[in-house]
Amino acid sequence: MARRRVGILTGGGDCPGLNAVIRAVTRKGTDAYGYDIVGVMLGWRGMLESVSMPLDLNAVSGILPRGGTILGTSRTNPYNEPDGADTVKRNMVTMELDALIAVGGDDTVGVASRLYEDGVNVIGVPKTIDNDLDGTDQTFGFDTAINTVTDAIDRLHTTAESHNRVMVVEVMGRHAGWIAVEAGIAGGADMVLIPEQPVDLEMVCSSIQKRHDRGKTFSIVVVAEGARLSDESLVLQSEERDAFGHVRLGGIGIVLGEEIERRTGFETRVTVLGHIQRGGNPTAFDRVLGTRFGIAAIDLVHTGDFGNMVALRGTDIVSVPLKDAVSKLRTVDMNLYDIARVFFG
Ligand code: F6P
Repeated sequence: MARRRVGILTGGGDCPGLNAVIRAVTRKGTDAYGYDIVGVMLGWRGMLESVSMPLDLNAVSGILPRGGTILGTSRTNPYNEPDGADTVKRNMVTMELDALIAVGGDDTVGVASRLYEDGVNVIGVPKTIDNDLDGTDQTFGFDTAINTVTDAIDRLHTTAESHNRVMVVEVMGRHAGWIAVEAGIAGGADMVLIPEQPVDLEMVCSSIQKRHDRGKTFSIVVVAEGARLSDESLVLQSEERDAFGHVRLGGIGIVLGEEIERRTGFETRVTVLGHIQRGGNPTAFDRVLGTRFGIAAIDLVHTGDFGNMVALRGTDIVSVPLKDAVSKLRTVDMNLYDIARVFFG
């Protein structure tokens, strides 16, 4: 009997830990189940253009500590291409794939969910530095990102203190403020501003003023890229939309920094961390979570439980139906934000 062939792709923005998933799927799929594992290149684009590479034990050797993805990624959306879903289905046959593991955020997993409804044997694995997927308590990539941001805040502290400045740090996260809140708490930020709560400039400036009145000469303000000033729209880098309809966020830090300096008179500088948050080697936590997700995904392939996404619930790895996993955005827990708030000003 021919060996079963299982494809794996990584879609959307990259993040640390993707290679841990690829390695785990390949190791267990090959060794324990005797499958041929096929790496589909560049996310869904590889399924549309039928571009792949064989994955064996040698191909995944040494990739565990590496950030990014050895398969490459794209924001291609098959449902945005003429005949896209049918092309993916046809290529499942021409590439001789019995099943596909799609590793990605809400967009990639959303496509997986629709393809499953369209008859493709697919399993989802959640990833994103934004930590905004509703079906799982945490995505891998997030822990590495918040450690990177925390390190940046620590560095900004020393220079802020030396120059008596307000430092505004703009972080990623799209429409959820997880990175801002967790890195803000970890880095001891004096103010954390998130998309879930419109920014009240009066409150921000009076809080900074109060802090300076009690003798502090510097402040650290963390702002999520998706935060907006009350009554104002999102600040965008570009209105152009990607294949999933997303605009490019960015620039709220500059707007905020100018307003803080104008209203308080304190010299203010702005740092936009950008893609630095997505790069670099994964933390031990993300390597372990990625590995656990990869093992669980190939186990689901083996038991034929398609149409599911692996997920973290508490400390357990579980599976949830794909359609439930992407039905809504996972926004910041306000109890956690209240903890950050204790340290404002
Ligand atoms: O979803 C992950 C993310 O890094 C967001 O935090 C950010 O808004 C976006 O991707 C940036 O996308 P790109 O890599 O296309 O600039």
